[in-house]
Amino acid sequence: MLYTPTPDTLYHPPPHHIDPLGYSRLAIITGCSSGIGLATTQLFLSHQFQVVGLDIAPFDYDLLRVEDHGRFHFHLGDLTLPGQIEEGVRIAHHFGGRVDVLVNVAGILDTFSSADTLLDPDWDNVIAVNLTVPVKMMRAVIPYLKQRPEGGVIVNVASTAGRSGAVAGVAYTASKHGLIGATKNVAWRFRNENIRANAVLPGSVDSSVGNRITQEQRVDLEGYRAVDDRPVHALQANPIAALPPITALEVAKTILFLVSDQARTINGVELPVDRAWGVV
Ligand SMILES: NC(=O)c1ccc[n+]([C@@H]2O[C@H](COP(=O)([O-])OP(=O)(O)OC[C@H]3O[C@@H](n4cnc5c(N)ncnc54)[C@H](O)[C@@H]3O)[C@@H](O)[C@H]2O)c1
Repeated sequence: MLYTPTPDTLYHPPPHHIDPLGYSRLAIITGCSSGIGLATTQLFLSHQFQVVGLDIAPFDYDLLRVEDHGRFHFHLGDLTLPGQIEEGVRIAHHFGGRVDVLVNVAGILDTFSSADTLLDPDWDNVIAVNLTVPVKMMRAVIPYLKQRPEGGVIVNVASTAGRSGAVAGVAYTASKHGLIGATKNVAWRFRNENIRANAVLPGSVDSSVGNRITQEQRVDLEGYRAVDDRPVHALQANPIAALPPITALEVAKTILFLVSDQARTINGVELPVDRAWGVV
């Protein structure tokens, strides 16, 4: 069964307590309606962030604690469409009067196609959502982050596929490698302007990203078998040991750490969240 954090799994600050982690900070989170983006939204709100969530899918407000509703604003839109990114960031700035944090979570899986079977729409969609959108989100947000005397933080959700060539199709692999490169470029370029950019690389997470392509039955089965064979993919996707799957909330907690002041010297890293799968 798909894991979704419930309010009682989250942090509960004592009443009237100010949480320095999130109090008076505004975070933009893409892909907030499900999986890792939803867990990040819930976790950030529980730490008193203001959050503006952007997603192509509707948001279910019942998944938030009632006391968090006032600090959350949702904007529905396809971030690959012209003007949507700029509008989302403009709305966020209007909502909070500032932007401190960007978390690029929105992403789609490819169809496991290889370079010889790839269809143009698969390449175009995956590169658009997984690479072009986060880079343009950073472009739109950096002017606001520069205005923050205490600095701004970006976290991009990449993947084990951002380092390995053996866990996904060619489009997803290229998009996540590209996102890690863009993250490092931003980290270096703006290091003296107090902007940090890091990437998290989840392994196989208990979320719905894989369901979408299998439901549509567009999977390139030969390509899928090429990455699902032991040892690489099966080592985590079908663990022999009875460890529970990595949850979206566990990835969200790593993102929260990178956004926190405890990570203030961490800039330009690719941080796996994968129980050592990435070392294979
Ligand atoms: N689930 C995993 O095993 C796993 C592993 C490694 C990396 N990741 C990455 O984590 C991120 C989140 O994945 P997830 O597992 O939570 O998946 P998910 O499908 O649950 O969430 C992705 C969200 O992105 C949104 N989205 C997709 N296209 C969009 C668009 N054009 N505009 C706006 N929003 C859009 C979706 O509506 C969805 O809410 C992705 O970038 C994915 O590549 C996931």
